[in-house]
Amino acid sequence: MTPNEFRSFGHTLIDWIADYRAGIRDRRVWSDSQPNAILVQLPSTAPLDPDSPQALMHDLERLILPNISNWQHPMFYGYFPANSGLEAVLGDLVSSGLGQLGLNWAASPALTELEERMLEWIQAISSIPSQMKGVIQDTASTATMVALISARERSTDYALARGGLQGEAQAQMIYFSSQCHSSVEKGGLLAGFGKDNLRIVPVDKNFDLIPSELERMIQGDIALGKKPCAIVATVGGTTTTACDPLPEIAGLAKEYGLWLHVDAAMAGSAMILPEKQNLFAGLEGADSLCLNPHKWLGATFDCSLYYVADPEHLVRVMSTNPSYLQTSTDGQVKQYRDWGIPLGRRMRALKLWFLLRLEGVTKLQARLRRDLENAAWLEQEIKSTHNWQVLNPVRLQTLCIRHEPNGLEGADLDKHTLAWVNQINASGNAYLTPAILDGRWMVRVSIGALETTLEDVQCLWALMQEAVGL
Ligand SMILES: Cc1ncc(COP(=O)(O)O)c(C=O)c1O
Repeated sequence: MTPNEFRSFGHTLIDWIADYRAGIRDRRVWSDSQPNAILVQLPSTAPLDPDSPQALMHDLERLILPNISNWQHPMFYGYFPANSGLEAVLGDLVSSGLGQLGLNWAASPALTELEERMLEWIQAISSIPSQMKGVIQDTASTATMVALISARERSTDYALARGGLQGEAQAQMIYFSSQCHSSVEKGGLLAGFGKDNLRIVPVDKNFDLIPSELERMIQGDIALGKKPCAIVATVGGTTTTACDPLPEIAGLAKEYGLWLHVDAAMAGSAMILPEKQNLFAGLEGADSLCLNPHKWLGATFDCSLYYVADPEHLVRVMSTNPSYLQTSTDGQVKQYRDWGIPLGRRMRALKLWFLLRLEGVTKLQARLRRDLENAAWLEQEIKSTHNWQVLNPVRLQTLCIRHEPNGLEGADLDKHTLAWVNQINASGNAYLTPAILDGRWMVRVSIGALETTLEDVQCLWALMQEAVGL
């Protein structure tokens, strides 16, 4: 494709994306595609000769659009807001257009330095402790795994330079609550700890980790000759917005010499609101922190920020320095390849730059506050309506709810819950995620898509009331 052909087709595509966003309300929220429906319509081999842009557009309309779930739909209340602000979309387009690959500073000086500055911007507006230094990772899952590898290496005094974990006499232990995201267990397993060495700490009635239980487990492991290595605390747990008590946990981490990683993947966006920063009190005692602006903030997947208290340790663990990557500026500049797992790095900071510059912090804060108010409105409605329950403390914008008709319990109640939520989801008018909490199905309502208004939330509430009248 020549630059001029790109210009022409690119304009068409930008119009197409703009039309998609402008008309998204008219689409169903969640896909009702059947398995393999798309696959059977795609040729099994690549074309030998070029196809026309028109043919491609036709297939985008015919094959792709009807077979996607519309995460940007204002009636999307599933999982978490995976907001893709159009400013960020343009930043991402620039990243692809410039085709940068940050193997080292010299390979793209602007990639490195823009990233450094964006991390500082977010750090300042979010009151992230100033001694921490950040890097952009792809996802929170990667960030957690990097944190656990770093913890492992600190605890074993760099066993990677010897026999690795396999050469260690003592088992290294990790602690996290039952409300942690599944990526924490996965990160622990992939970092080599082994399932037997992952400890699930009990939670209280608010679903927050209980520090006294954590301490009891740490002491128990020490008594057994094991080595407590890391704690992963969550601020804003995926299911219930659990917020583990960081000050107490940080105290224990310090006392027993454990690494403390704070997973604030979803809730971290709320750190731009001064009135919500109390949720993150105690962060100064953490060794690492992760937050995902590609969730509620709107920075377009993937953009996960990882901050560490000791960047030198991170670099020592992650560093590679083959001759072909060495340059005359080494020593004066950051080499972000040494701050994570991949060598090649995209220019992800561009989408954050576009979002922050073209929206401004004040507007971003106003949008998040709108979502908090909408969640508070729904909470009030549900709590004051007979037979409806809110099961979690609504700390941000996610409600865990259940409709509990008199006399319905156990498996029958589960059946009722799944029936009404599945009816809403199948209608295409809204999307909610059912999940199990304390052994029973409930429904999560995660408010905060870019275009979700109070009227939309009111509409959802009407849909829910209608659905339970089944
Ligand atoms: C608290 C928490 N941690 C981690 C993750 C995983 O995020 P990612 O998709 O960036 O790996 C999520 C996603 O839902 C989350 O809510």
